[in-house]
Amino acid sequence: MITAYDYPTGRACEAHGIDVTLVGDSLAQVCLGYDSTTRLTLDEMLHHCRAVARGSKAPLLIADMPFGTYQANVEDAVHNAVRLMQEGGVEGLKIEGGMEAVDVVKKLTSIGIPVMPHIGLLPQRHTILSGYKVQGRDARSAWNLVESALAFEAAGAFAIVLEAVPEVVGSAITNRLARIPTIGIGAGPGTNGQVLVWDDVMGTWGGHKAKFVRRFGNVKSEVEKAVKDYAQAVREKSFPTADESYAMPTAELELFMK
Ligand code: KIV
Ligand code: NA
Repeated sequence: MITAYDYPTGRACEAHGIDVTLVGDSLAQVCLGYDSTTRLTLDEMLHHCRAVARGSKAPLLIADMPFGTYQANVEDAVHNAVRLMQEGGVEGLKIEGGMEAVDVVKKLTSIGIPVMPHIGLLPQRHTILSGYKVQGRDARSAWNLVESALAFEAAGAFAIVLEAVPEVVGSAITNRLARIPTIGIGAGPGTNGQVLVWDDVMGTWGGHKAKFVRRFGNVKSEVEKAVKDYAQAVREKSFPTADESYAMPTAELELFMK
């Protein structure tokens, strides 16, 4: 699983063998320049889901429910989930949370909406968690994560995302779940699948890199090179050449030059 935020990234997921495409609310930071996922509105998410959906038909298409769109009450969550599917064109949804989110998962799955709960580090709660920190490092909080995962499985979730937990916790949860897969991000090699943010995989920016990120590409340096080379070529007038320009038929040229 990898994130996608627009038509070309959605196309790339479909064309190159990704199983699940996620329109993650990391969209807030990596595409929209916000400093937190909590800033992302449902309308902004819908706009990007529509673009990804136009590019990505084959891999399962999941979207994050933005902060505040599923917590107030179950009716609200259903209404917003339906909007993401009908207007956004996604096939399933991801929500962050623990035991307090079990009723929402139960309701959404009972009406046929595939739900993937996200446990461990919850970026939508980074402020109350005092930052983006590894979760489940002590036995008690690790057991809370195991219990949430089991409750979500019983509530009908089709998969669980585990973010930033010790690898023994990733493996323990994976082994205890009877029917559904885990997808890890910073949860070690023992989960059933992995997910990363598009921009982290591509190396599109050079800022902070979490321990669990591996850059599989270096798009940032390609972008830098192309932008600089283009600007320089324009300034020194080596671009465009005659080959890159249109000619006028000779007879017309003579008339034009008169
Ligand atoms: O928003 C996101 O990109 C995510 C994934 C990293 C799991 O939630
Ligand atoms: Na997210």
